[in-house]
Amino acid sequence: MDRIRIKGGRRLHGSIPISGAKNATLPLMIASLLTEETLVLDNVPRLADVGQLQRILGNHGVDVMVGGKRPGETPYDGQTLHISAARIVDTTAPYDLVSKMRASFWVIAPLVARMGQARVSMPGGCAIGTRPVDLLIMALARLGADIEIDGGYVIARAKNGLKGGEINFPKVTVGGTHTAIMAASLARGTTVIENAAREPEVKDVADCLNQMGAKISGAGTSRVIVEGVSRLSGARHRVLPDRIETGTYAMAVAMAGGDVLLENARPDLLQAGLDVLAEAGAEISATNAGIRVARNGAGIAPVEVVTAPFPGFPTDLQAQLMALMTCAKGTSHITETIFENRFMHVQELVRLGAHIQLNGECATIEGVGKLTGAPVMATDLRASVSLVIAALAAEGETMVNRVYHLDRGFERLEDKLSACGAAIERIAG
Ligand code: UD1
Repeated sequence: MDRIRIKGGRRLHGSIPISGAKNATLPLMIASLLTEETLVLDNVPRLADVGQLQRILGNHGVDVMVGGKRPGETPYDGQTLHISAARIVDTTAPYDLVSKMRASFWVIAPLVARMGQARVSMPGGCAIGTRPVDLLIMALARLGADIEIDGGYVIARAKNGLKGGEINFPKVTVGGTHTAIMAASLARGTTVIENAAREPEVKDVADCLNQMGAKISGAGTSRVIVEGVSRLSGARHRVLPDRIETGTYAMAVAMAGGDVLLENARPDLLQAGLDVLAEAGAEISATNAGIRVARNGAGIAPVEVVTAPFPGFPTDLQAQLMALMTCAKGTSHITETIFENRFMHVQELVRLGAHIQLNGECATIEGVGKLTGAPVMATDLRASVSLVIAALAAEGETMVNRVYHLDRGFERLEDKLSACGAAIERIAG
């Protein structure tokens, strides 16, 4: 298994290209199941999760063609996928595939909407909590699907198609909102989704579906209305930039010090995160080319942050912010409200010399003068990258083990950071 070695203490200078958003790419690829025509996606990041979803879709009969190199293209440009679900040959998503990536459960929505049936394995546990799928199932049932649970599989049937209905989510769920919108797009009649997730990726997927002929309004607000249509067509769509990757590198710069342009990044996707960074002492400025982040001289100020659904501070940046706060001049509090048990990075940060105390969903971080390098273990996607951020400022060498988690969600992380002067390298294992 690969490892990443980091020698801390170098400031970051230069620019980092931000890739297309993983959390939009996955549901966009899944949306291809809704049409027999080809969906073309541009700016797709090269990530392990994208490859894994390609295998899962392949099992349903979907062909994915990766576009070749184009003139002037750099290794950082996103790839183009041509996805064709002309013939769906299998409506079962088996356990061994779904258990590797939770979001693949979402195939249940387009499969039942287009084929009238789907049999999808429950995803099972994952490192950051129980993450149930009850609300996704509730949404499908509200659209008229008969649901049965058998042998660890959810079986959804709608022999005569789905029909529009009212879905009121008791809790904001990104996956629930994606599945409800996808299913409702091919249902008969109108669906109203209340308390919908407002994440920019929800809007990006809805924009793509509208280009495919869907009639979705209100995506990006908490009330989404979908007029069902009888069929959808192909389309071409460019994936929006990854706001979590943006926030992660912004925190890396705030941690290590320096001055970096995050190319293609969009401030409107990450205002809450940028506000917290500014409060912590980073200089943030929006330019035509992206977002510039700098910290020169000033120390890191402590912050009080509570994670929340968009437009709040994202849970997917909680671990990275905690890494930054380990070196703040004072005491910070970070409260995690979205996922229980999303604190696995704490013990690893403590190995680097951080002072963190956990009390239920709230972490108290007492800033220390310096961290010291050590071997650490990556436990989930965002936790792993928080260890990289901490290591950038730690004295001496840090070895991050089990980096396959990083490859699931960060494209060429070590290349992007080393191009800005970080002493970071991958050691093939
Ligand atoms: C998505 C993101 C993930 C992010 C999360 C929250 C993708 C591929 N993943 O995950 O990176 O951390 O949103 O912003 O986009 N819940 C239920 N029942 C359900 C579904 C969810 O109780 O049926 C709960 C979850 O346990 C959690 C909360 O709702 O406490 C939010 O989860 P949700 O927004 O659904 O997360 P995902 O869509 O899985």
